[in-house]
Amino acid sequence: MQITFFNAKKYDQESFDEVNQDFGHELRFLEVPLDPHTAVLAQGAEAVCVFVNDTVSAEVLALLATAGVKLLALRCAGYNNVDLKAAAAHGIVVVRVPAYSPHAVAEHTLALILTLNRKTHRAYNRIREGNFALTGLLGFDLYGRTVGLVGLGKIGLITARILRGFGCRVLAYDVQPSAEAEALGVELTGLDQLYAESDIVSLHCPLTPETHHLINAEAIAKMKPGVMLINTSRGAIIDTKAVIKGLKSEKIKYLGLDVYEEEGDLFFEDLSNKVIQDEVFMRLLAFNNVLITGHQAFFTTDAMHNIAQITLQNISDFEQQKELVNAVEA
Ligand code: NAI
Repeated sequence: MQITFFNAKKYDQESFDEVNQDFGHELRFLEVPLDPHTAVLAQGAEAVCVFVNDTVSAEVLALLATAGVKLLALRCAGYNNVDLKAAAAHGIVVVRVPAYSPHAVAEHTLALILTLNRKTHRAYNRIREGNFALTGLLGFDLYGRTVGLVGLGKIGLITARILRGFGCRVLAYDVQPSAEAEALGVELTGLDQLYAESDIVSLHCPLTPETHHLINAEAIAKMKPGVMLINTSRGAIIDTKAVIKGLKSEKIKYLGLDVYEEEGDLFFEDLSNKVIQDEVFMRLLAFNNVLITGHQAFFTTDAMHNIAQITLQNISDFEQQKELVNAVEA
């Protein structure tokens, strides 16, 4: 099947070309993101393949349908950027990669926690400059601390398992019951209790209308003074302006982000020669207790291989009219 990829980077092309040797699809890689201006470039392709920050609005879907597109293959888990009702109305089937490596994201969550706590990023620079002073590098033992996970799905559960290995008390809030929580020694709680008792709050729920700005001024007010807040899920779960206030008042003592609500204009591109216009983002960068990575939690060789494998399998299943186990419906 002919597949047009939007927002394709060199690393996407490499992993998809390699895995496609077993599938034999016709792959066309475009560097431009999918949006109302670029949708027309899908002309001739039956499937388009997109990533987290591509715009798949009703307008774009109408253009894709006119171009002859029948399948939208997301090479990611989250689908908050897709208007699923419009896709259904245009007869465009949507598939995704529900899990490619929850370990990659959980392990990156720990990388953020440990870096913020033990300040290895600052130590690295200091040592290279011959500064061996310890002032400003004071951390705390993770052992015995309480970590609250919002969302106990695939990534939340693995994060919980790792944290239990560190000897943490792990609380979790999820809208679904969890069969695995008890065996892992995770205490299921309400959000208020989680906020009140957690030294670290880490977000692992999807972005939905219910979770949009879940972490707002009201939620921050319920948290422990000096809390560490980690978001590797989706940027808009956090009200960034409220979090900046929390950082200024020192209620939030550490912030680790792999996602940002306006990341679509920034992440995945080299902007080092440009002036960044986003003042909220620049304010975040001014805090020395804020650590930001650019949506790289998923980015391991294992995950990239799995993404290509599952995406191309989804597309072959569609082509061969097999059951679509990874279909997403409104
Ligand atoms: P999952 O679907 O396995 O788990 C999500 C959990 O959140 C479910 O248990 C669900 O019941 C729960 N949930 C839904 N609404 C909730 C609410 N209002 N409050 C609390 N919990 C709620 O998804 P998975 O694989 O664990 O991924 C979680 C999120 O991580 C994804 O939605 C995605 O946004 C993000 N992600 C980020 C990546 C990155 O590179 N930074 C890569 C992959 C996923």
